[in-house]
Amino acid sequence: MDGSQQAGSSRLQVEMQKTKVAIVGLGTVGSGVARLLLDHGDRTARHAGRVLWLEKAVVRDALRGRDCDLPEGVLTTNLEDVTGDPEIKVVAQLIGGLEPARTIMLKLLESGKDIVTANKALLAEHGAELFDRARELGRSIAFEASVAGGVPIIANISQCLSANQITSLRGILNGTSNFIVSQMEEHGADYDEAVAEAQQRGYAEADPTMDVDGSDAAQKLAILAHLAFGARVHWKDIPRIGIDNLHVDDIQFALEMGYRIKLLAVAQLIDGGLELHVSPTLVEVGTPLAEVRGANNAISVVGDAVGRVFFHGLGAGQMPTASAVVADMIDTAVGRTAITFKTLQLWSDQEARVEMCDYAKVPGRFYLRFMVDDHPGVLAKIAGALGEHKISIASVLQHEAPEDSEETIVPLIIMTHTAAEGAVQNAMDAIAAFNDVKPGSVRMRVLD
Ligand code: NDP
Ligand code: HSE
Repeated sequence: MDGSQQAGSSRLQVEMQKTKVAIVGLGTVGSGVARLLLDHGDRTARHAGRVLWLEKAVVRDALRGRDCDLPEGVLTTNLEDVTGDPEIKVVAQLIGGLEPARTIMLKLLESGKDIVTANKALLAEHGAELFDRARELGRSIAFEASVAGGVPIIANISQCLSANQITSLRGILNGTSNFIVSQMEEHGADYDEAVAEAQQRGYAEADPTMDVDGSDAAQKLAILAHLAFGARVHWKDIPRIGIDNLHVDDIQFALEMGYRIKLLAVAQLIDGGLELHVSPTLVEVGTPLAEVRGANNAISVVGDAVGRVFFHGLGAGQMPTASAVVADMIDTAVGRTAITFKTLQLWSDQEARVEMCDYAKVPGRFYLRFMVDDHPGVLAKIAGALGEHKISIASVLQHEAPEDSEETIVPLIIMTHTAAEGAVQNAMDAIAAFNDVKPGSVRMRVLD
């Protein structure tokens, strides 16, 4: 037997048992996984106690350049080279989107493979079906890379923190959005240029709309809320606002008041159920979540026994994500995944459930920006409308316009004390009807 896939493989590898593995989808993440398996076989062998032997990598287009060098015979466009080979035990399924990813996943399970995936869209949409099918077939699905890339949050929530009732989870879960906002804040970058750079660096989804409109973060939040709270919430039911309409002026006003804007995903137990939302949020400068920059992700978790724990690291990009995928492949090859998969009963009817609370009742402090005619009485009218909706003002910011300025429309920033989401929305609707308030008012939560 040739026990090595590369010149210079150690004797250890040559003598070891091997588990054949495959990759389906050799894009940004798939190529990183191939590189780790091929270039660092010693490392994986040491941790798995066996060689993870890359037998096949399935692609759509065999002629397209790949960001990895595969040994001859590994690349194929035929999925049956994997499904038809009973010796291939573990498959990293790294195609994005819903179809053909779902159908391929089912075929792989049905052909006896254990799956590792990074596809959160697929799990958030079809998790129940895929996990049920895997259980019926006695197979497993590992998905550490599906949330927060290289940050091991799935294992921590589902295993390391399992003695806790988790009460709160707040996360920066989309690397692309965080990268874009950081570029705008730190370098004054143009929004479109920052999106293009995130794509070029391999952070963004094939369709970056999912990153910037909050969908990707909502999908990840749905997965985490499921693990942490047993919440069976469809990601589309999670109230979400992205950074696609975030204005650079708000980044600057927030900074002036001591906050940075982060696309925050929140799941926490409050009176009445589970609060869930994704929204650009003001986070106080100097606090851990505020200082998460670039494509990094972070999750702050509170458990009733452990207290607050904080996870931080690269949430997107080739090698950080490949790190999580390969760790799952090792766990699957040695049999650890099978045990946790069986005991966790994810997306099954046997779980304890928690219901989502009414978002309109979720309390918080708010940053409001109105574009107003700079003339007497406007502030009083807005303050009056907020008062009528029982919303108390904490501070007001309006920059002095020069006496000779021709600018008649100016930004007025109001920070509120704690109020319910619905009351703030109603007040804003009332204020929007004033003649001296221009369209495009902004409302963002402030993290307490
Ligand atoms: P890419 O678009 O770079 O790669 C996807 C790959 O899937 C492409 O190489 C494509 O093939 C292949 N593919 C599509 N359809 C088929 C098919 N029918 N048969 C075989 N191969 C197919 O995506 P990423 O690598 O960035 O992402 C993969 C998954 O990982 C996604 O679910 C994403 O959400 C997730 N993820 C990505 C992260 C990142 O930082 N990029 C981080 C965490 C998760 P071809 O090249 O031939 O077109
Ligand atoms: N597009 C995703 C992000 C990749 O930017 O976070 C990681 O899931």
